[in-house]
Amino acid sequence: MLKESSREKFTPWNIGVFNMEWEKTILITGGAGFIGSHLVRLFVNKYQDYRIINLDKLTYAGNLSNLIDLEGSERYFFLKEDICDAERIRSIFGDYDVTDVIHLAAESHVDRSIEGPMEFVMTNVVGTVNLLQCAKDKWGGEKDHVFHHVSTDEVYGSLGTEGLFEETTSYDPRSPYSASKASSDYFVRAFYHTYGLPIKISNCSNNYGSHQFPEKLIPLMINNIVNQKPLPIYGKGENIRDWLWVEDHASAIDEIFHKGCIGDSYNVGGLNEWTNIELVKYLCKIMDIKLGREVGSSERLITYVQDRAGHDLRYAIDASKLERELGWKPSLKFEEGLEKTVDWYLQNSEWIDQVTSGEYKAYYDKMYGAK
Ligand code: NAD
Ligand code: TYD
Repeated sequence: MLKESSREKFTPWNIGVFNMEWEKTILITGGAGFIGSHLVRLFVNKYQDYRIINLDKLTYAGNLSNLIDLEGSERYFFLKEDICDAERIRSIFGDYDVTDVIHLAAESHVDRSIEGPMEFVMTNVVGTVNLLQCAKDKWGGEKDHVFHHVSTDEVYGSLGTEGLFEETTSYDPRSPYSASKASSDYFVRAFYHTYGLPIKISNCSNNYGSHQFPEKLIPLMINNIVNQKPLPIYGKGENIRDWLWVEDHASAIDEIFHKGCIGDSYNVGGLNEWTNIELVKYLCKIMDIKLGREVGSSERLITYVQDRAGHDLRYAIDASKLERELGWKPSLKFEEGLEKTVDWYLQNSEWIDQVTSGEYKAYYDKMYGAK
């Protein structure tokens, strides 16, 4: 388990010395979560001249074992903090001389936002505004900084059977989660227009890959197939999501952070639409083969359950601006990425056990029965 290492290392006498050596000190929020951990790893391994500070509250969704391989790196530091804590965040900007921010910390699960929206308002809205204030006060009018806000395509609302979300599509959030993310995007834009804060926003489609908390569709289904538990499909399973491999999202953030235009938004996605039922059936098939089960046996676990309230029908991203302007394209085909993902979960059952103990265990057991 990684230690909270930074406080020991950043004693006042050595902060200045360290800073002379770093090209950038990037504060990555939410780095112990699913996407954040992939991004932190990418940046620490790729950029030898950057100091990366991972600031995370370690909610149920944050797990330091996601970054165990970075333990011991001189360029990586972890701070257990809440982005809503104005005093602490302000002093961190000063003490560590933060030059840039990539902001991912959030409450991220739609179902939880329906159960209780206030936590989403606090972290996603209040926490974001707090970070914006601290960045503005620290950087003054200086332009050689970046505040990159990581957002979602869900801010655009729900599509019918035709069309794609473009950067110019009007926001039309419908769940408490997407409303809180849209609100944070608006604040980020407001800080650009009002105070000249150098911001960038990326709006990405649904991610999948290793280290995703098993309350989201793909890891939940993998876990339940392994344990031969019901596979709950909301409504008729006809809702469509556009899936992107998490490491491709991290590489897109890398491109946008370094080369994107200040003040701009970039959509990120893989043109990879699946209905939920198609996707779950496909997962059942490949997992039956991998687990040496009779093909078709896992499909029998599919259980249609009550639909999610206000369930958005379809998300689909037009990421052509990102390809045209910055040359980014997804690297992996979905079938390949899904297979890698399944293999990771099958080989890391202790990770699942670890993250599904405690608070989540009670919720999971209530929904699917104790293991
Ligand atoms: P996640 O839930 O896996 O991780 C969120 C992280 O934020 C956790 O480590 C958690 O401990 C931390 N956190 C929560 N509240 C905090 C607080 N108050 N202070 C500090 N840290 C806090 O989420 P994820 O799926 O990795 O998503 C990361 C970001 O990307 C979010 O902003 C999300 O809206 C956005 N996004 C996610 C997806 C997706 O498919 N998962 C798609 C597009 C955009
Ligand atoms: P989810 O992974 O929660 O992501 P989001 O709601 O942010 O898109 O859900 C993906 C889709 O899968 C969504 O249409 C809801 C559906 N879903 C189910 O049918 N069953 C489930 O148990 C879960 C968690 C999701």
